[in-house]
Amino acid sequence: MQADLFPHRHLLGIEGLQPQDILGLLDRAEAAVEVSRQVEKKKSVLSGRTQINLFFEASTRTQSSFELAGKRLGADVMNMAVSSSSVKKGETLIDTAATLNAMHPDLLVVRHHAAGAVHLLARKVDCSVVNAGDGPHEHPTQALLDALTIRRHKGKIARLTVAICGDIVHSRVARSNIILLNALGARVRVIAPSTLLPSGIEKMGVEVFRDMREGLKGVDIVMMLRLQRERMSGSFIPSVREYYRYYGLDAEKLSFAREDALVMHPGPMNRGVEIDPAVADGPQSLIREQVEMGVAVRMAVLEALAAHLPNQ
Ligand code: NCD
Repeated sequence: MQADLFPHRHLLGIEGLQPQDILGLLDRAEAAVEVSRQVEKKKSVLSGRTQINLFFEASTRTQSSFELAGKRLGADVMNMAVSSSSVKKGETLIDTAATLNAMHPDLLVVRHHAAGAVHLLARKVDCSVVNAGDGPHEHPTQALLDALTIRRHKGKIARLTVAICGDIVHSRVARSNIILLNALGARVRVIAPSTLLPSGIEKMGVEVFRDMREGLKGVDIVMMLRLQRERMSGSFIPSVREYYRYYGLDAEKLSFAREDALVMHPGPMNRGVEIDPAVADGPQSLIREQVEMGVAVRMAVLEALAAHLPNQ
C-alpha cells in the first residue's frame, strides 16, 4: 500500500523525512498532476473531512494552492487569515490552537511568521498539521514541488548541480530545498552576498559562492529567491540597483550555467530585482510549471496524511 510509504502524522519540515518518504510523495504527486489535468478533478479521499488553512502571514499562491488541493480531494476547506501584528505570540497561538481544535478539523495547514510556531501548534491539536511556511525555518511543500518540477524535466535529482541564489538568510524555501536536495543526492550551491548568507551555512552541506558567474558555472538548475525586504531591518544590500547588477539573473549571467539549465523561482517574483523579466518568461523558465506542481504536491501530502487520520 502506498499509504505506508509516509509513516508520519504531520508534515512539519523536510528535516526528519527519509529519502523514501520524499520519493513516495513525489510519485503520489505524479498521479495528482494527471487528476488535475482532467476535466473531472474531484477525488473522494478527503470526503467528509474538514481542512482549515490558518494563515498568520499573507499568502496568495500557497493558500490558494492548498485550498484547491483540499477541494480536489473532496474536503471541506475553510480559510482563516489571522492578522498577527497586534497579538502576543505564544499565548495567542496556543489559544487559537485550542479554539480550532474544538471545531474538530482533520487537517490544519498553517503559515506563521515565527520559526517553530507550527511545531508548537502541532503539539496542541489532535489533527494532522502541515507547515505552509514558518518564518525563515521551513516550507516543505515548496521544496517538494520544486523537486517534482526538476524530476519531471531532468528525470532525476541525484547528481544534478543546483544553485540557490539570493536572499538565503531569510528563506525557508532555501532551507527546505537544501535539506531535500541533499537527501536525494544533488550537489547544492548557494550564491549570495555575505550579508544574505546565514553564518555556518556550509554545515548544511552546500558550496558557498559570492560571485554569480562563478557560482553558476556548469549548474543544471538555477533557483532564484525573492529579496525579502519585509523581513529586513537595517541594510542588507546597498541598493536594489546594485543588487540587480551583481545578483540579478539576466541572460548574460545565465549563460555561465549549462546550456540546458532550467530557471526556477518560488514566487512572488520581483522582476528587475532578482530576475530579468526576459529570463523569467524565457524558454529555460519553469516558473509557471512550479505553480501547477504545487497543487499536485499538496494533494499528495494531504492524501498521504489522510491515511493516518482517525476512523479509517
Ligand atoms: C515563498 C514563501 O512564502 O516562503 N513564497 C511562496 O511560498 N510562494 C517565498 C517568498 O515569499 O519569497
